Amino acid sequence: MRVPFIDLSRSIKLIREQVLNSWETALDNCEFVGGPAVASLEKKLEKRLDVSHFVGCSNGTDAIVVGLQALGVKPGMRVAVPNMTFWAPYEAIVQVGAIPVLVDIDPDDLQMSIDEFKEGHKNLRFDAAIFVHLFGWSSARLKELRTFCEAEEIILLEDGAQSFGVKVEGQSVYSGAALSTISFYPAKVLGGSGDGGGIMTPNPKTDETIRALCNHGRAGHYTYDYVGWNCRMGGLNGHYMNHMLDIIDDLIEQRLKAEQFYQDFLSDYPKDIRVYRAPQGVEGNGYLSMIAGIKKSGDELAAGLKSLDIGCARTYPQTLCEQPPAAKAMRTSDLRHSKEFSQRVINLPLFAGITMEECKASAEALRSLF
Ligand SMILES: Cc1ncc(COP(=O)(O)O)c(C=O)c1O
Repeated sequence: MRVPFIDLSRSIKLIREQVLNSWETALDNCEFVGGPAVASLEKKLEKRLDVSHFVGCSNGTDAIVVGLQALGVKPGMRVAVPNMTFWAPYEAIVQVGAIPVLVDIDPDDLQMSIDEFKEGHKNLRFDAAIFVHLFGWSSARLKELRTFCEAEEIILLEDGAQSFGVKVEGQSVYSGAALSTISFYPAKVLGGSGDGGGIMTPNPKTDETIRALCNHGRAGHYTYDYVGWNCRMGGLNGHYMNHMLDIIDDLIEQRLKAEQFYQDFLSDYPKDIRVYRAPQGVEGNGYLSMIAGIKKSGDELAAGLKSLDIGCARTYPQTLCEQPPAAKAMRTSDLRHSKEFSQRVINLPLFAGITMEECKASAEALRSLF
């Protein structure tokens, strides 16, 4: 049986008709940049994610750049970031002229190590930090991190690109953040019809600043309060995402069912593989199946799965410090946990609409490699 790593067409077909109808109206009304669909999406997301202000924007990377600016991160400031994450947070720090400092991961929950972050601050004195809620969950110690940053006056931006629907201690992961961001890249849990993103804050003043920064720093049409950026959300994407949002709970349930299947099926092989899950106190969203090979490397497992026609990915096959532009970046340790994990990681197919037969074929294929 051939299993794709991801197949977005299965969720798209559920909203296809509604999207086409909405797009027809949007074209008739020339709703290209922003507009009523984006405004209504923002309102719905404020409710769904339990945040006071949601600003839609062009993608999750611009969201971080604007978020850092809105929080007052300035050139030369030191900004801690996990060594194992997508490249975007690193890019955003550099784009605002700040200095990234790489922090290792906690090998149990795979998030930035809060102990190493606290220890690193003693020597390196961080001005700011980006905590990334990774792989469809977060740290059970999120509250402790927020309290520490507040006490130490460290500006904290939370990158929730992957964490739509994640809860920590029963609360939306975005709700207690000073500023958080999300990505609506089509393959994300809540995906758009193209690039998209958002920035969230509890603070009405920060909300105003973010809205201005995303729109050329505008005060009026041809007057400007800031040197901003253009990263507004498109109107057609707003329509598409409103329809996707209508079915998101079902989509997350399907992801979680598949994730649970893998956990049950593969938990009998602790000497060969380790299957990761959201830590206690954290409700995940089934974004990725996070598995590490113990006796075989991630590359070996990926080659084996490919030969059996099972789609797979390695998120992430290399860490930030292994990328040439970050080779000389400051760091809080030798970063060995993240480097070691990236050698071992393998992700099985996991997406909304995957069948149990496909999950079984994928898990059996992985098991057959040992
Ligand atoms: C953790 C993380 N941060 C930021 C981003 C950037 O989002 P975008 O691709 O929408 O720019 C991504 C997206 O892949 C991500 O996974």
